[in-house]
Amino acid sequence: MNVLEVSDLHVGYGPQPVVHGIDLTVAEGEVVALLGANGAGKTTTLMAIAGVLRMISGQVLIGGEPATEPLYRRARAGLGYVTEERSVFKGLTVADNLTVGGVTQQDALRLFPELEKRLAVRGGLISGGEQQMLALARALARRPRLLLADELSLGLAPLVVTRLFVALREAAAEQGSGVLLVEQHVRKALKYVDRVYVLRRGRVALSLSAEEARERVHDIEQAYLASGDSAA
Ligand SMILES: Nc1ncnc2c1ncn2[C@@H]1O[C@H](COP(=O)(O)OP(=O)(O)OP(=O)(O)O)[C@@H](O)[C@H]1O
Ligand SMILES: [Mg+2]
Repeated sequence: MNVLEVSDLHVGYGPQPVVHGIDLTVAEGEVVALLGANGAGKTTTLMAIAGVLRMISGQVLIGGEPATEPLYRRARAGLGYVTEERSVFKGLTVADNLTVGGVTQQDALRLFPELEKRLAVRGGLISGGEQQMLALARALARRPRLLLADELSLGLAPLVVTRLFVALREAAAEQGSGVLLVEQHVRKALKYVDRVYVLRRGRVALSLSAEEARERVHDIEQAYLASGDSAA
């Protein structure tokens, strides 16, 4: 079953769309990457799916239901949305961050045991990687039907990036969450995802299995992504 079905999505920041008719799906338990050069429309697409940005036309189905409501209502219906801006309350302890996020410590620590020793520390005093683990723990412990992740790993150390990908993979396998992620570490992401969409100028230019994308990664980087990702 598809947890997300996007059909002919047009969306922009004014009357002119910057996303021109995107179709994509994410199945239950599937991790899908949305790739593309800077400005290709990745964030815009996720914001429209999340209900942060109103679509011009098209359809978004989450769990088979048309998503027409704002983000907080979609969150109740099983949508998680995590961005590069670590949505952590800096003045609250890690434990209190979990409480206000409405998740139990047990559920969060099952996903990220490394947070246990930080429970009493304020969110502003833990590392960027720990902040992102906390944000992701909060999102995943709610067992979202669909999780949208926009450049989760921006600025984080490679080991932490791997840790976040592993957690997403586990959430997909164990709780059946579907995940749609945008990622700059393309080569690394391709090790953890099932399928890939490559956007170019607001359109889906390629739709591939991860295996196909791994085989063609050099060409994809050259043709569709602004800069190579040799670091990953
Ligand atoms: N707030 C905004 N107002 C007007 N135009 C915007 C706004 N945000 C983005 N755009 C434009 O929309 C297009 C798509 O941008 P978007 O942020 O979705 O790209 P992206 O694929 O996420 O890029 P990046 O890899 O840099 O994050 C770009 O042409 C961008 O300039
Ligand atoms: Mg973006």
